Amino acid sequence: MDKPKHVLITGASGFVGWNIARHLAQLGYPVTGTYNSSAPDRFLSIDWLHIDLADPASVAALREVPFDAVVHCAAMPGVKQCAEHPKLAERINIQATREIAEIAAHRKARCIYTSTDLVFDGRKGGSYAESDTPHPPTFYGSTKLQGEEVVRATLDEHYIFRLALVYGTKEGAFAGFLKWTHEALKAHQPLSLFTNQYRSPVAASDIAEAVARTLEQRPPFGTYHIAGPERLNRYEIGRLFARIFGHPQTGIRESLVRGPSGEPAADDIPLNADTFRDETGMNFKEVISGFESLEGELSESD
Ligand SMILES: NC(=O)c1ccc[n+]([C@@H]2O[C@H](COP(=O)([O-])OP(=O)(O)OC[C@H]3O[C@@H](n4cnc5c(N)ncnc54)[C@H](OP(=O)(O)O)[C@@H]3O)[C@@H](O)[C@H]2O)c1
Repeated sequence: MDKPKHVLITGASGFVGWNIARHLAQLGYPVTGTYNSSAPDRFLSIDWLHIDLADPASVAALREVPFDAVVHCAAMPGVKQCAEHPKLAERINIQATREIAEIAAHRKARCIYTSTDLVFDGRKGGSYAESDTPHPPTFYGSTKLQGEEVVRATLDEHYIFRLALVYGTKEGAFAGFLKWTHEALKAHQPLSLFTNQYRSPVAASDIAEAVARTLEQRPPFGTYHIAGPERLNRYEIGRLFARIFGHPQTGIRESLVRGPSGEPAADDIPLNADTFRDETGMNFKEVISGFESLEGELSESD
């Protein structure tokens, strides 16, 4: 199969999906993007479709979209939200993923499913490769892992992208964890950031490029870790961010992420993205150059 002729992006109104939708639209792909509660960005030249993953009849509307590739980003992505609403989390992250994978299989479309580094428990003491066995300590991670299994079982032509912690912008402003980091630093509020939670942060723009390369180059189907090359904790990331964007670092304090009984819960889940690099030639940015590249994505008001 050649390059896809029409790409469906679920969750195109969200942080990761918006970055992918923008990049693919700029590359000239016809794109349909879904949204649920957020008003879509009318300036993004894609067709918008409202769906609610909580409702099977609403998901079924995707049968009418003439896509030959789907990037499934829509999800309930919050650890806390999934723990508080387990039934809805299962419906959105597992059952709706199955329905979308079935529609893709019926259309003979390729599927890229966005999973997470949080399928691992962080006890390995080193970076995680695709061959490592997942063991999610959170309900969110468990639903995303079950989403992976559903995709593998439903269609052969699939890519599972396990994303590390994502940083970047959306619609001209900081998004994800940089949004609240930026707001706190700008308002000179004290900011407590974990020193015992290590990730390998990845730029949203690099994820979008990884999707584009996957659609164009067709690496072997399967599971890939999509991550930056560094192992950093939130405190280190916050200090780098403050340095690059000219905020004082004095308000940034060290804190420890706590486990369920209040004990410090080490969370050490850097991902190794060598497999994807070897298959596609893609090198993921280090955080400093990733942060520097964000300057051009911000609108003047920010
Ligand atoms: N951000 C990260 O650091 C990170 C790290 C690892 C993996 N991931 C994965 O990346 C994917 C995207 O995450 P994100 O950070 O972009 O999250 P996000 O900004 O919260 O976006 C979530 C998307 O899902 C849509 N959605 C939520 N509930 C829905 C429902 N009931 N029906 C239809 N659509 C619904 C949202 O639509 P509306 O906004 O319109 O309601 C939004 O477009 C997820 O699969 C997540 O697990 C993210």
